[in-house]
Amino acid sequence: MEYEYHTSVLVKQVLSGLDAKNAGIICDTTLGDGGYSLELLKVMPEDGVVIGIDRDPQAIARAQERLGIYKDRFKAVKGNFKNIEEIVMGLGIREVDGIVADLGVSRLQISDPSRGFMFLKSGPLLMNMGDDSDVNAETIVNEYDGEELARIFWEYGEERASRKIAKAILKYRQNKRIETTDQLVNILRGVVSARYEIKTFARIFQALRIFINREIDNLKIFLPAAVKLLKQNGYLAIVSYHSLEDRVTKQFMREQADPCTCSKELPRCVCGKKPALKVIGKMMTPDEEEIRLNPSSRSAKLRIAQKI
Ligand SMILES: C[S@@+](CC[C@H](N)C(=O)[O-])C[C@H]1O[C@@H](n2cnc3c(N)ncnc32)[C@H](O)[C@@H]1O
Repeated sequence: MEYEYHTSVLVKQVLSGLDAKNAGIICDTTLGDGGYSLELLKVMPEDGVVIGIDRDPQAIARAQERLGIYKDRFKAVKGNFKNIEEIVMGLGIREVDGIVADLGVSRLQISDPSRGFMFLKSGPLLMNMGDDSDVNAETIVNEYDGEELARIFWEYGEERASRKIAKAILKYRQNKRIETTDQLVNILRGVVSARYEIKTFARIFQALRIFINREIDNLKIFLPAAVKLLKQNGYLAIVSYHSLEDRVTKQFMREQADPCTCSKELPRCVCGKKPALKVIGKMMTPDEEEIRLNPSSRSAKLRIAQKI
């Protein structure tokens, strides 16, 4: 079937950051529509292999169809990237040359109103990336208390009106259950002025999505597991789309590159902690041309590190 595939972001930079031309095995841990996997397979050596992981069964099915021509060179596995070690070792592979994670949601997920990620189209309040989450948006907005709702909106959406919004949700649900994206958007409209409403919708939907899919927790588990799985001199490439994810990635890479906890006043290190990673170059962002062609790429940030 012909699909309108997700437009991959910072492709050239990811390929060169992973040194794909010389890589034997690369793990694409957020397969999506397989955009990175496809480009990797094109430039990797003829016997190079890509392992694709995604928690979304629809993504796995579409990528398998798109990349089936690569036969044994491409293997797709449904799973959460926080379990990268078990997943890859389950394929009989002990270490890989490169690992990439392109965080966030794909076009497949965001453009399907029946999955509830969109605030501009009516749909059920779901927002689950895969079938592995234990909660959905409807349960949260109808069953969580005000404190918890405000915390989610503030922590994962950096929404200043988090308390006011939580109060409005509590008031609404006294009379009626909140079941659709429209209902939630209308509640938000009653709290913020029209001038700021789109940004507020985006922050609240983002907060719910990150919380439901445990995006930050998964990333924190994934990063050290990925380093373990990399070969010496292998590369880790992380593309993030909001400040929370980028902060976790940046801090992790910095700590791994300079783990020494000794006082600066000591003449030499006594804690014995050795660097596991070397940060490669500066954080990269799409250029104006890429943003013009794909406006959704505008918030992307790519960080690369090498295992030492
Ligand atoms: C931005 S898209 C990837 C797009 C892909 N790079 C491409 O070019 O087609 C992100 C994908 O990561 C998946 N994902 C997010 N968190 C995940 C996790 N913890 N484990 C596995 N997959 C995850 C989502 O389901 C989504 O399909």
